[in-house]
Amino acid sequence: MSKVVILKHPLIDHKMSMIRDKNTGTKVFRETVSEVGALITYEITRDLETVPKQIETPICETTVYELAKQVVIVPILRAGLGMVEGIHDIIPSAKVGHVGVYRDEKKLVPHVYYQKFPPGLSDSVVLVVDPMLATGGSASKAIEIVKSYGATDIRYVGLVGCPEGVERLRKDHPDVAIYLAALDSHLNEMGYIVPGLGDCGDRLFGTK
Ligand code: PRP
Ligand code: URA
Repeated sequence: MSKVVILKHPLIDHKMSMIRDKNTGTKVFRETVSEVGALITYEITRDLETVPKQIETPICETTVYELAKQVVIVPILRAGLGMVEGIHDIIPSAKVGHVGVYRDEKKLVPHVYYQKFPPGLSDSVVLVVDPMLATGGSASKAIEIVKSYGATDIRYVGLVGCPEGVERLRKDHPDVAIYLAALDSHLNEMGYIVPGLGDCGDRLFGTK
């Protein structure tokens, strides 16, 4: 079964308190989602493999360590886009692939409308990012797609999850570790996470 990690960090908790507040406006919401994306990624990349390389500092020759694998960030459109900038700030060499998935508002099933990836997914560490893990349908579909392009080293990075989504993802993709800033209580009858933060895409892009 896949690893599930709920990050415990005072800065993440503090920023989540801002994101959850319905009175937080679009600008601060967008900036803070991006910052939490960066903080989570910093915590969950401790185990990335590095390789030694010989370089010269201004003083002498020395051994330094570089990331062994290419990192590819795959945001699930739209809301996943909100996490890309923050992650890119701390991994500037990362490439970005995109999966467009929207959730049918009544049936809550995912529909794929776009996919584009850099070459070499099979040799990369792939971070599938989306702030919300609700039924788990969108994340499961996005992971299925990156696997179809050859990805094997995949991590799901989200902000808010619930037991329903975590269970679904663990069942569908037991090989994918799940990292979240918070695990909430449940889904309501509309498919929203409780207490959650509302519709993340709408709050990021001001569409409601
Ligand atoms: C939201 C969210 C996830 C999905 C989660 O996207 O960003 O992608 O719902 O729900 P699920 O786990 O039940 O699939 P939405 O479909 O609202 O699209 P948007 O990001 O374009 O607003
Ligand atoms: N998508 C969102 O944006 N929010 C939820 O609570 C569930 C799905």
